[in-house]
Amino acid sequence: MHSTTLLAIFLSSGIALTGTSASSLSKIKRKETLLNEFLADLLKYLPAIDEPLVDATSVITDLDSVLADLTGANTTENQLIDGSSCDEYTLIFARGTAEPGNMGVLVGPPLVWALQDIVGTDGLTIQGVNNYSASVEGYLEGGDPDGSDNMASLISEAYSSCPDTKLIVGGYSQGCQIVHNAISELDATTAAWIDKVVLFGDPDDGEAMSNVDSSNVYTVCNSKDDICDDGDIITVWHLIYAENVTAAAEWATS
Ligand SMILES: *[C@@H]1O[C@H](CO)[C@@H](O)[C@H](O)[C@H]1NC(C)=O
Ligand SMILES: *[C@@H]1O[C@H](CO)[C@@H](O)[C@H](O)[C@H]1NC(C)=O
Ligand SMILES: *[C@@H]1O[C@H](CO)[C@@H](O)[C@H](O)[C@H]1NC(C)=O
Repeated sequence: MHSTTLLAIFLSSGIALTGTSASSLSKIKRKETLLNEFLADLLKYLPAIDEPLVDATSVITDLDSVLADLTGANTTENQLIDGSSCDEYTLIFARGTAEPGNMGVLVGPPLVWALQDIVGTDGLTIQGVNNYSASVEGYLEGGDPDGSDNMASLISEAYSSCPDTKLIVGGYSQGCQIVHNAISELDATTAAWIDKVVLFGDPDDGEAMSNVDSSNVYTVCNSKDDICDDGDIITVWHLIYAENVTAAAEWATS
């Protein structure tokens, strides 16, 4: 299905079914605690899609841009490399294929909001992975090499500049491949220092990470998500992980 058709259906069905008017949308924007629920609800009304990743990229990009507009999500975050402060928690996150900025929209910002609900905005430093094109080619080669290198250097930077922060390393879709690759590039001390790893829609689902104890890894994979079976078909099951960020954030801060 053509992405604009899909978006038209998505918008008419999603907004009509949730009964969300423009004024209630602006109220939602001011209440971050509701934002996650809103996003999860909206995503439930996606029409069925079943497309190879290579054809789905424009759908994902269009969907992300609509959702970023509706929710006011920040798609780029560089608080670690800006070096302003070392907070109790740091999140370094790698977005999914075809997502914008360095955080994406479908999982990165909702995970940030879920963490901020628990630790407050002052308790969290947010950093997206840079130098990462998030292209289909990168996915097919097992995760973009430059993005993987960048994430490894960001983790090392967090360790040297904020040794007392609790580092949460996160990824969505190809971003999970970036997490696996980055951790394999780290020395044992730095990898073991990582507090928690949270993965959504992981193509390398279940693969052990060197020097990270499996009890510190939280993986969310819907059983019908083909990407978690290392496939290349995008279904709605791959796009609705915003439903699972609250549980992941509670786990990561417990
Ligand atoms: C986006 O970032 C700005 C600056 O850090 C922050 O004030 C704002 O609350 C963020 N918006 C959302 C929706 O997270
Ligand atoms: C980005 O990737 C290029 C090519 O691998 C590398 O030379 C450069 O150092 C990277 N920059 C950052 C900021 O990671
Ligand atoms: C994600 O959240 C939904 C809604 O709460 C739940 O039904 C589903 O089981 C969760 N998925 C996983 C893999 O935990």
